[in-house]
Amino acid sequence: MRTILVTGATGGIGDAVCHQLAKSGYALVLAARNMEKLKTLSERLAGSGHQCLSLDMTNDEAIGLFASQLSEKGIVLDGVVLMPPQAHSTNDPMPGSQAWRELFQSCFIGPLEVLKAAIAAMKPDPAAGRRAKIVIISGISSAQVLGHYATSNVLRCAWVGEAKTLAFALGSRGIHVNTLSLGGTLAPWYREGIEKRAHAAGMTFDQRLAEETSNIPLGKYGEPAEVAIAVEGLLSPFSDHMTGLNIMHDGGFTRSY
Ligand SMILES: NC(=O)c1ccc[n+]([C@@H]2O[C@H](COP(=O)([O-])OP(=O)(O)OC[C@H]3O[C@@H](n4cnc5c(N)ncnc54)[C@H](OP(=O)(O)O)[C@@H]3O)[C@@H](O)[C@H]2O)c1
Repeated sequence: MRTILVTGATGGIGDAVCHQLAKSGYALVLAARNMEKLKTLSERLAGSGHQCLSLDMTNDEAIGLFASQLSEKGIVLDGVVLMPPQAHSTNDPMPGSQAWRELFQSCFIGPLEVLKAAIAAMKPDPAAGRRAKIVIISGISSAQVLGHYATSNVLRCAWVGEAKTLAFALGSRGIHVNTLSLGGTLAPWYREGIEKRAHAAGMTFDQRLAEETSNIPLGKYGEPAEVAIAVEGLLSPFSDHMTGLNIMHDGGFTRSY
């Protein structure tokens, strides 16, 4: 049985990813800060043998503890779905230096330490057909400037650079590293945002949704279940000759080639 670490497991997208992977027979290591929620999720998943590990990706001590638990429990990982905490939307392209330090710690340096611990728990053997797959969940500001995601524009590019660099460094060991860049995806918090904007504009949810998605070729936001299927594909033999890619999951919204 293949074992996959999913961070952000209890979130709108994490929940869908975990259900999809468990249904397909993967054993999961579920990580997030709230242990109660992790346990509830684990009980609802198909299959057995799922494990819950508490993890605050912004905190060095918590990450150290997480890394030692992975190793003490003898967990061998065949894959990781890494969901770095998302920077809040902002129009300010020049926050102060302390704000940048905190953003890089929370959204890049901390999650990268988690990824290093996960890589240390992988034992791929490409000659024997055993490959390990890393999927980093990113956003479409990795490929274009979004005015209201001024800090994300930078942090997402850092992840694309890191993923590409790791793909070169780890490829010969049979470790694949790809980023999946999401456009608007209807996690509960994202739906709430649409609800609020609809209310403010005196519209229904469906009217606002239609307006917001009118410039997306497929005319819709993504569903967490659609992300889950894409993630499963990237963890599967579908990606056996694919690494270092930044794949858009955005209904065709991104205009760059
Ligand atoms: N939804 C979208 O439209 C969209 C678009 C682009 C990219 N994304 C990316 O997709 C990923 C998942 O987003 P989502 O929409 O599912 O968000 P969400 O519903 O808010 O879920 C966030 C998840 O991350 C966990 N988490 C938050 N802070 C954490 C921390 N410091 N350390 C460890 N875990 C933490 C949360 O659990 P705890 O609070 O218990 O820790 C939860 O499981 C994120 O990386 C986000 O940037 C989403």
